[in-house]
Amino acid sequence: MELPTSGHDPVLLQEVLDLLEVIEGKTIVDCTLGRAGHAGAIAAKLGREGLLIGMDADPRNLEYAQARLADAPCEVRLFHANFAQLEHVLGDAQVGLVDGILADLGLSTNQLFDSEYGLSFATDAPLDMRIDPQTEMTAAEIVNRWGEQKIADLLFQKADERFSRRIAKKIVERRRVSPIRRTGELAQVIYEAIGGPRPDRIDPATRTFMALRMAVNQETENLQTLLAVAPRHLKAGGRLAIISFHSTEDRFVKLAFREADQRDELAIVTKKPVVPGEIEQERNPRSRSAKLRVAQRSAEKRGAV
Ligand SMILES: C[S@@+](CC[C@H](N)C(=O)[O-])C[C@H]1O[C@@H](n2cnc3c(N)ncnc32)[C@H](O)[C@@H]1O
Repeated sequence: MELPTSGHDPVLLQEVLDLLEVIEGKTIVDCTLGRAGHAGAIAAKLGREGLLIGMDADPRNLEYAQARLADAPCEVRLFHANFAQLEHVLGDAQVGLVDGILADLGLSTNQLFDSEYGLSFATDAPLDMRIDPQTEMTAAEIVNRWGEQKIADLLFQKADERFSRRIAKKIVERRRVSPIRRTGELAQVIYEAIGGPRPDRIDPATRTFMALRMAVNQETENLQTLLAVAPRHLKAGGRLAIISFHSTEDRFVKLAFREADQRDELAIVTKKPVVPGEIEQERNPRSRSAKLRVAQRSAEKRGAV
């Protein structure tokens, strides 16, 4: 697969700039710098008086983003951090309340396809899946150490894998012979467990790989922490924008925004999630599942769009 030059195309870029109300002089936090697609465009709008605070859990993407933002017109403060640590990052950046917070969840295209991360069943590589090398648990550890029931529950709960029991059983049978250390080996075990094409026509390994990746990187837990913490770091009128790529994540965002709205902590700005238009979907097929939700911290509520 040929990657775009930055290894990732930012999704819903104009929508993010508009709905986050990015203008000169503001302070914006990008919780998921990635390849700095959103961050670069935000920085350009913030101008000389603005401040961009950015973080990424992956030091490789952080380094790339840093280089890409080197000529940004605004002040830029970047951190190798998990967005679950937003509070500490803002402390280290010596910033109190901010005008906008963006999280573009999941992984960048380069991470999904670069064999170094061990995230793809399409490329044989060590079964790792950590986006932050400081994370202790790898996917190989889950696959080779967890009990059969725990693996089945993980696949079902994180990725709605309907063949979870069959796959978990086969994994445990196979690792009794020898440990499963590579993505290719795991993909083969899954193909044998399912024994043919799936009714939903996706690759048989898709859901298992997704569930493992989510567990290794604690994606659900980190998102829930971010959703709990972010609103209190916004100025009145400040906005929180979250882009998610699967229904479970979107559900968490929707519920968290609704609860915060009921507490009068946030006002929902996007009554329905904003999704990419046809042109973007065609240009960037990965954008197809993207959903953007925005909420605003405010004393007074504004009309929903
Ligand atoms: C979809 S990409 C972001 C792409 C970016 N918006 C761009 O336009 O280039 C998601 C990024 O978030 C990072 N990430 C994922 N979970 C994270 C977390 N809990 N804390 C910080 N960064 C995280 C990933 O390493 C990846 O670089």
